[in-house]
Amino acid sequence: MLKYAIQSNFSFDNANAINFINLGKDDLLEILNIRNDIRISKWMFSNKEITQQEHFEFIKMLNMQTDRIYLAIKNKNQEILGVISLTNINLGEKSAYIGIYTNPNINAQNGSLLMQIIKHIGFKQMRLKKLFAQCLKGNNKALRFYAKEGFKEWRIIPNYINKYDKFIDVIELILTKE
Ligand SMILES: CC(C)(COP(=O)(O)OP(=O)(O)OC[C@H]1O[C@@H](n2cnc3c(N)ncnc32)[C@H](O)[C@@H]1OP(=O)(O)O)[C@@H](O)C(=O)NCCC(=O)NCCS
Repeated sequence: MLKYAIQSNFSFDNANAINFINLGKDDLLEILNIRNDIRISKWMFSNKEITQQEHFEFIKMLNMQTDRIYLAIKNKNQEILGVISLTNINLGEKSAYIGIYTNPNINAQNGSLLMQIIKHIGFKQMRLKKLFAQCLKGNNKALRFYAKEGFKEWRIIPNYINKYDKFIDVIELILTKE
């Protein structure tokens, strides 16, 4: 079941979730641009600009990894609204870590739509019970967003990430299936 889900695309009324491993080159390059955009990368754990080669190697590796899924969310006009991921998928623990970023070039709040899709895939398709998110301290917009979506603060990992020559705490949040 999981292998099937890990390689699938998912269809919704107003959006499609396309697995990175099923995307064409143009879409993958657009995603690389979004991921390297400072408005996104400043909130990611790694500062570094990702090269095209690294990006395509990463996608190639995804074909062989069964504990993670990365999806581009497209609207019906085929615009990329953002990216979601479930990683460290643990069927024993029924848990996974999520990732989320919206396309900063689209002037709309698509976070809730993306989160709805994460919850559907995590809770309904994969039948997980717990979703974790890790957020840099100071990313207040994301923290407010997670709170609005029902996530609770779980623990703080002090000085976990070295960014811009500073050690930054990571706030780990948890959402449990009702
Ligand atoms: C975090 C992210 C996914 C949120 O998506 P979004 O579409 O911008 O989210 P929303 O607008 O729905 O929610 C965020 C804001 O709306 C507010 N909001 C929207 N609807 C709300 C509601 N019904 N009740 C309370 N607050 C609400 C949130 O509090 C927050 O507002 P503020 O920053 O103006 O105070 C997006 O901003 C993003 O991609 N950020 C960069 C990458 C990132 O930080 N990812 C998370 C890494 S941990």
